[in-house]
Amino acid sequence: MKQAQITDSYELRDIDFERISRFVYDFCGINLHEGKRELVKARLGKRLRQGNFRSFSEYFKYVMTEEGMDELVAMIDSLSTNLTSFFREADHFDRLSEIVKEMAASQKHLRLRLWSAGCSTGEEPYTMAIVLSEALAGRNDSVSILATDISTRVLRTAKAGIYDESKVRNIPQHLLRKYFLKGTGSREGQYRVKKETAEMVRFMRFNLKDEPRFH
Ligand SMILES: C[S@@+](CC[C@H](N)C(=O)[O-])C[C@H]1O[C@@H](n2cnc3c(N)ncnc32)[C@H](O)[C@@H]1O
Repeated sequence: MKQAQITDSYELRDIDFERISRFVYDFCGINLHEGKRELVKARLGKRLRQGNFRSFSEYFKYVMTEEGMDELVAMIDSLSTNLTSFFREADHFDRLSEIVKEMAASQKHLRLRLWSAGCSTGEEPYTMAIVLSEALAGRNDSVSILATDISTRVLRTAKAGIYDESKVRNIPQHLLRKYFLKGTGSREGQYRVKKETAEMVRFMRFNLKDEPRFH
């Protein structure tokens, strides 16, 4: 990367903001409107400092090169907003459970393939796995969940399947006990998704603007 001229704050000129936001929108559909200007400045400012870039335009030029491919991934990682939680929008999961139970009532063996598109740190696909396990308890169906996101940062957390106590608060106690292991020692205060549940989910990086290459 480039020689340093490290600064505390970089100027984000209109032209740089427009270029970056247009590119990000075209690349992955994330809408960096005017209200996101400070977010772009703060989050990418960090990337500029770490990579010793002198300006946003120098940074953006680098990101557009072949050599800058990894930084492009890091840029998108830092600009994506990853709000999520277990059982977020609980009604959706109630409905999922009802649908699956209806299907199970009329079919001996189900082959279910679900997709959590934009799975963030994994709470959504793991909630799906829990809901399906409950709805289909005692049966021998084939269930698998594909979970994709554009951000490699969130996918690392998702794959690890380890969550702080504050993140599992929405999970009813009996389900928490059934589907998670409680950490001890250095893992005190953390919960890990149990192996059988984790194995129902397959994580993959995927940009929703690209052609799906999985079935
Ligand atoms: C607000 S989170 C929602 C997470 C989860 N689906 C939920 O509802 O709890 C949106 C996620 O979509 C991802 N995302 C945004 N644009 C994407 C794209 N073009 N391709 C894949 N993932 C994308 C972000 O990285 C982020 O993790």
